[in-house]
Amino acid sequence: MRVLVTGGAGYIGSHTVLALLERGDDVIVVDNFANSSPIALERVAGIAGHAPRVHRLDVGDEDGLDAVFAQERPDAVIHFAGLKAVGESVAQPLRYYAENLGITFSLLSVMQRHEVHTLVFSSSATVYGDHQQAPYREEGGPLGAANPYGQTKVMLERVLTDVAHADPRWRIALLRYFNPIGAHESGLIGEDPRGVPNNLAPYVAQVAVGRLAEVGVFGADYPTADGTGERDYIHVVDLAAGHVAALEHLRTREGVRAWNLGTGRATSVLELIAAFEAASGRSIPTRIEPRREGDLAQAWADTQRAEDELGWRAERGIAEMAADAWRWQSGNPQGYDTVPSGAV
Ligand code: UFG
Repeated sequence: MRVLVTGGAGYIGSHTVLALLERGDDVIVVDNFANSSPIALERVAGIAGHAPRVHRLDVGDEDGLDAVFAQERPDAVIHFAGLKAVGESVAQPLRYYAENLGITFSLLSVMQRHEVHTLVFSSSATVYGDHQQAPYREEGGPLGAANPYGQTKVMLERVLTDVAHADPRWRIALLRYFNPIGAHESGLIGEDPRGVPNNLAPYVAQVAVGRLAEVGVFGADYPTADGTGERDYIHVVDLAAGHVAALEHLRTREGVRAWNLGTGRATSVLELIAAFEAASGRSIPTRIEPRREGDLAQAWADTQRAEDELGWRAERGIAEMAADAWRWQSGNPQGYDTVPSGAV
């Protein structure tokens, strides 16, 4: 299949591009590298043995995207591109709404013009807001997120649902990710956030490698087993495989449908830190801090629908996630900016 991947150089994008190349797909990446590195794609090509074709472009550049579609003639699109920092979205809501909605409108217009109707969309467990108790089920009721980033996902799910209802040729998968962590087992690609990480796993990894001093634990008084927040961490390689499964499923299913991509298991902040300590062999200093505004005590997936319909299930556990994240972080302490050892 010829698959066009927006944001294909990013964290989840690069692992998915690799999974597609490894199964023999022809892959086209569209990325502006605003929050990612071209080095990720060079490494993906090294692992796969062949490279995706890369177009450095804003997805919102509709004329540019139109030309890429005319040249590449994709069969399907996986759409990762977009802004994703929760805190930043609270400070800059207009930028988040304009960017995440705007680029998706451009993409949909171009897809429609070129009669490409198969789309896998990056949604998020954040669309459940606090409307349900964990485990979250796809059909469980109204959606709504606590911040503008999450709200762009809620709005785009609505837009895509309306688009699919208006024209039966569309085949759209809404993939609601839980908490992706880990890295490819090679240690060559992984998560490389700009600046100080907002998310727990990259923060812990950077403390373990000595880039940051200690982990602030945001709340130890939640009604959970050890008092810290519980999340459904999913290995990014399993998540990438979930995209491939969704793409396959869309061969036989018209319309639009949402699937949770998680493991169905909850891990606390302290358990995740312990897993990184075991993986790295280093002690990771922590400090208990107040709860972070907007955080939930618990969030994990009901994974039944993805298992039944996509035939997909996450296979890797927390120990493997921490081991793979550590291999990436220790081999690339400054992410893709790391100068290889031996270079001057
Ligand atoms: N946490 C800490 N210290 C930190 C960072 C996080 O204790 O330095 C805690 C949080 O309070 C939470 C857990 O670690 O209990 C996980 O926090 P993350 O920031 O890693 O992840 P979130 O669950 O808050 O959010 C993530 C993504 C969002 C996405 C959401 C979906 O960042 O983009 O999952 O549920 F919307």
